Amino acid sequence: MTILVTGAAGFIGSNFVLDWCDQLTEDLVSFDLLTYAGNLENLSTLDGNPRHHFIRGNIGDRALISELLKKYQVRAVVNFAAESHVDRSIHGPADFIETNIVGTYNLLESVRSYWNDLDEATKKVFRFLHVSTDEVYGSLDDKAPAFTENYPYEPNSPYSATKAASDHLVRAWFHTYGLPVLTTNCSNNYGPYHFPEKLIPLCILNALNGKPLPIYGDGQQIRDWLYVKDHCSAIREVLKQGKIGDTYNVGGWNERTNLEVVKALCAILDELRPKADGSKYESQITYVKDRPGHDRRYAIDASKLERELGWRPQETFETGLRKTVLWYLENETWVNHVVSGEYQHWVQKQYS
Ligand code: NAD
Ligand code: TYD
Repeated sequence: MTILVTGAAGFIGSNFVLDWCDQLTEDLVSFDLLTYAGNLENLSTLDGNPRHHFIRGNIGDRALISELLKKYQVRAVVNFAAESHVDRSIHGPADFIETNIVGTYNLLESVRSYWNDLDEATKKVFRFLHVSTDEVYGSLDDKAPAFTENYPYEPNSPYSATKAASDHLVRAWFHTYGLPVLTTNCSNNYGPYHFPEKLIPLCILNALNGKPLPIYGDGQQIRDWLYVKDHCSAIREVLKQGKIGDTYNVGGWNERTNLEVVKALCAILDELRPKADGSKYESQITYVKDRPGHDRRYAIDASKLERELGWRPQETFETGLRKTVLWYLENETWVNHVVSGEYQHWVQKQYS
């Protein structure tokens, strides 16, 4: 049997696929539409691996998903596919509605129909794991306790509203149709293959290129940061042992202001790649106009995951950030292809 991973060429999906293929012997189908955020180069080390299959497609394409589920005898679906960037959702929410809401709905329907036709034994072990975000809970005051799984949904951006809608659909497909679902709500990830329009990779690359490090507003917004490989191990654990119908918060116990994050990565760069003129990377920090509706603070209480499934992150923010900076320094070709847009030319050549 096989697992089907949607959004597999994106940041977290590709880390998940690489780790899975490294550690486990099961076949895996990577499924991805290859939007601007999907990069097949993330999976290039799997070229020629007979257990890995890549299919380009849309999670909303019921015929294709149904065909793949049957063909590969899929025993679990892990759904990473989404439009994921808050700033893009503010400029153009339509794709977010289409993929995150309508796409998830269609995916759930394809999976439900496949699952209904399985024999009883296979039906029992089948799982649909939906990967979601802490942003569905909205914004916290500085002193408020961290989000638990029971915190009410109060999404504030088009991105988080569409993710919240998808979580609700997944929940309803469990309660109404009995589909064996699991949902994870995770905090901000960082690490290898992170698309350089997000804060951490953007600032690493801008710092190295002598460009401004843009801080929205006063830079005092707080996020909880989790190294991407820790997120992947949490998902594997939930898939293996999670209670059907439950949701699990995933976080790093690492609350930092945006300014602290950028200063921390500047300090690592000062040590690993000191500037020729002796100045500090921090001097490139520039305050810019705030994001509309910018959530002030996210904080995740991941104690359920530890208590029930024994999961804790392996990396601290300091060790994870150092690994991340090193990865960007050591993977210049990947960076250049992304920054120049060359990764998309390859997709056009391959798929036009
Ligand atoms: P990403 O934008 O890097 O990757 C998303 C992938 O989905 C891309 O490869 C894209 O091509 C693909 N995709 C988009 N629309 C599709 C469609 N209709 N059909 C098939 N594939 C499609 O995102 P990411 O950061 O890897 O996030 C993955 C998931 O994890 C998302 O659901 C996101 O909401 C969630 N999440 C992300 C974070 C984070 O910090 N990045 C934190 C918590 C949860
Ligand atoms: P981002 O990486 O876009 O993730 P998210 O919006 O999902 O949390 O942003 C992380 C934080 O960094 C968020 O509070 C917005 C802020 N930010 C900046 O201050 N400057 C930037 O250039 C970017 C991209 C983000």
